[in-house]
Amino acid sequence: MKNRQYSILNYGCQMNESDAEHFAGQLAELGYSYSEDYHNADIVVVNTCCVRESAEKKILGKIGEFKGIKIENTKQILCLAGCMAQKGGEALLKKYPQIDLLIGTAQVNNFKPIILNYLAEHGQRVHADMKINEQEFEGQAVRESTYAAWIPIMYGCNNFCTYCIVPHVRGRERSRSKENIIAEIEKAVAAGYLEFTLLGQNVNSYGKDLGNSNAFAELLKACSEIKGVKRLRYMTSHPRDMNEEVIKIAAQQKSICKHFHVPVQAGSNKILKAMNRGYTKEKFLSLIAMIRKYAPDAAITTDIIVGFPGESDADFNETLELVKNIEFDAAYTFIYSKRSGTPAANFEEQIPLAVKKARLNQLMEIQNINSLKKNKELEGTVQEVIVEGPSKNNSSIWSGRTGSNKLVLWPMEDKEYKIGDLVKIKITAAQTWLLKGIAENE
Ligand code: SAH
Ligand code: SF4
Ligand code: F3S
Repeated sequence: MKNRQYSILNYGCQMNESDAEHFAGQLAELGYSYSEDYHNADIVVVNTCCVRESAEKKILGKIGEFKGIKIENTKQILCLAGCMAQKGGEALLKKYPQIDLLIGTAQVNNFKPIILNYLAEHGQRVHADMKINEQEFEGQAVRESTYAAWIPIMYGCNNFCTYCIVPHVRGRERSRSKENIIAEIEKAVAAGYLEFTLLGQNVNSYGKDLGNSNAFAELLKACSEIKGVKRLRYMTSHPRDMNEEVIKIAAQQKSICKHFHVPVQAGSNKILKAMNRGYTKEKFLSLIAMIRKYAPDAAITTDIIVGFPGESDADFNETLELVKNIEFDAAYTFIYSKRSGTPAANFEEQIPLAVKKARLNQLMEIQNINSLKKNKELEGTVQEVIVEGPSKNNSSIWSGRTGSNKLVLWPMEDKEYKIGDLVKIKITAAQTWLLKGIAENE
């Protein structure tokens, strides 16, 4: 029999990347091997995101492509997974008959029995029940990276920021047990992994559902002390729940990356309140001051939404002022996207697209100045970098990342590295998006 093959087309956040690795793990257990050629694969998983309309449009275009693909490859099984699948449910199958199976976000760990059942009897096609699967992943992932591992520590979100679809498609917070998380990290260390990212929509809430409000600080410390963990990251932190204890541990433990990602979303108290973020601008500023007190050299990055309903010029100017004052190392900036089913979609005073675009440009201009300034501060310093491989655009240049998650490029010369090697690079030139350097002779 011909070797059966699978493809995965992945969209969205790190949680989706992690889920995709768990789909891959279960497909491997069923005897499928990976193929990039999704036209000819036997099973294709399209793992979707619906956080913004732009993501959905792109994915719908891809699903459309499969109409033609399946005329050629009639036996192909197309599985729609992820947040859009959860949101769209049965209606998506009706609208797009080329989709054979729909897998909701709480069913990732059930994928293998679902596929087996489908292959045997073309059974139920929609599996989007949020309630039935509270099981933990048991580590059957096939990881994409050979040195960095995603470690989900919790699923879902309880925050209900008024713009955000995530709690609606990922369900309520469920934490994994500390034992399982540590066991998964130890197993990955034994397999040669050295960088670990603890994943959750709001990692600072970890363990609250297990009755321990200090659980994230304890988990972070325990993971940072596992032998072989060279770099520990965690995301995403919620400014409301980030506390002094976590900041102190992150600052003190050598293995924890000196990088704080704290999404502020907006700089006006009126808008923060309308977003239901649960903190004020003043509270956020004192959080940044606390991070800088304990970890003065750490990189600080953020997420910002422009054009939230009701955002006036004055409100937006407060965001600009905040960004100028804090000087983030980087900011992921988004145009507010209306998500049906969320409260903000029904707010009055939606902002015209042209205004949102102009605000985004203004914000990016200021942030680019900050990023360049922050990167320039690193000129002349020696940074520890993990080798990611030859640069995408130039195969005679190595690329890698600092603990603060900055991209570094340096000439190959005669140096032979393996992906995942830790090397020391002297930074010689800073740009807005990256650092250039030369390898230090050890
Ligand atoms: N749980 C994480 C990630 C959520 S999604 C967190 O709380 O930060 C990642 C980012 O997408 C958010 O931080 C927010 O800036 C952005 N985002 C979410 N919903 C959005 C929407 N409707 N329109 C535009 N940006 C959005
Ligand atoms: Fe969305 Fe807010 Fe939850 Fe983040 S914390 S996933 S922005 S609801
Ligand atoms: Fe997208 Fe779902 Fe992640 S909506 S951002 S894939 S949690």
